[in-house]
Amino acid sequence: MSLVSLTDVVKTFGETVAVDSATFSIDRGEVVGFLGPNGAGKTTTMRLLTQYLEPDGGTITIDGLSVEDHPVELRRRIGYLPETNPLYRDMLAGEYITFMGRLRGMGADEIRARTDDVVAQTGIEAVYYRPINQLSKGYRQRVGLAQAILSQPEILILDEPTEGLDPNQRVEIRSLIRDVGTDRTVLLSTHVMQEVRKTCSRVVIINEGRIVADGSVDELVAGQGGVRVMVELEAPADAAGHALTELPSVARADALEADAGGRARFAVEGSSGQDPRPDISKLAAARDWPLWELHLAQASLEDLFHRLTAEHGGPAAEAADEAPAAMPDEASEAAGEVEE
Ligand SMILES: Nc1ncnc2c1ncn2[C@@H]1O[C@H](COP(=O)(O)OP(=O)(O)O)[C@@H](O)[C@H]1O
Ligand SMILES: [Mg+2]
Repeated sequence: MSLVSLTDVVKTFGETVAVDSATFSIDRGEVVGFLGPNGAGKTTTMRLLTQYLEPDGGTITIDGLSVEDHPVELRRRIGYLPETNPLYRDMLAGEYITFMGRLRGMGADEIRARTDDVVAQTGIEAVYYRPINQLSKGYRQRVGLAQAILSQPEILILDEPTEGLDPNQRVEIRSLIRDVGTDRTVLLSTHVMQEVRKTCSRVVIINEGRIVADGSVDELVAGQGGVRVMVELEAPADAAGHALTELPSVARADALEADAGGRARFAVEGSSGQDPRPDISKLAAARDWPLWELHLAQASLEDLFHRLTAEHGGPAAEAADEAPAAMPDEASEAAGEVEE
């Protein structure tokens, strides 16, 4: 039986259907990435799971217990790092942790007994007596994680935990999430795909309130169809594009922007699981076209995300821009880090 389970969950705000008949489940010990463009319904889904909102339809169960029927009991079993917490910025970090513990129904002794542990685990000793609004975003997220794990919850719900962090902070928070996520079940939302690849064993993609994909990163990438390769040829772009498309092992060849040297570049997809690289190198030799580059392209999770969420342009297109599909992982990571 799944630890967390949503069935046909609906939440509307006036005319807006924020969550539209969402069904998915999370098994014990999984780290699931909840991916979607801005406004897709991630935060609303998480607020439903953590009982800050009530669904208009459908059911949510934790460990087989309905959230509706067991609100108090289940609150302690879920740690929640909300997207933003403007309300509590005047509190000292330590006060905030205590306050959140009380909200979860913990007693004063239990809170005291746990505080040293979570403060050490999240590395916030130095800021414990400082107001939250004076902390860097990185430390604010650490404090947020500290309160989330205070009641030793088996489930962690983290809403865009690395949003707004600089590249170094992001690496630190990711590593902290890996630490606190050990032996726990984690649902982590993000609109940045690299996040998922680095942190999660499974991905659920949401768009306009609907779940549009659910599976392991590898499964989803494999379900994307053919092998993708990058080609750079010293050749007239039209002739090269035509010749590539003619190869039996090539399903399609998309022309990319030419580089500074004016060489023709293509993103090529192999047909029915074939790797078209041998054919491409033979073609280049036969036509006497110097072959400057020929390598496997990796990042098809970005392609999938783009395809599933970009129909309406806007935020999804922006998110996809962070990681051009043709870039190898490291390069796209670097590009994403710098641009954000
Ligand atoms: N409290 C609210 N009142 C009205 N509309 C809301 C509220 N919360 C969210 N929405 C709307 O619901 C949709 C989903 O929002 P949200 O869950 O915050 O998306 P995400 O977290 O994926 O960016 C958006 O269209 C948003 O404007
Ligand atoms: Mg959100």
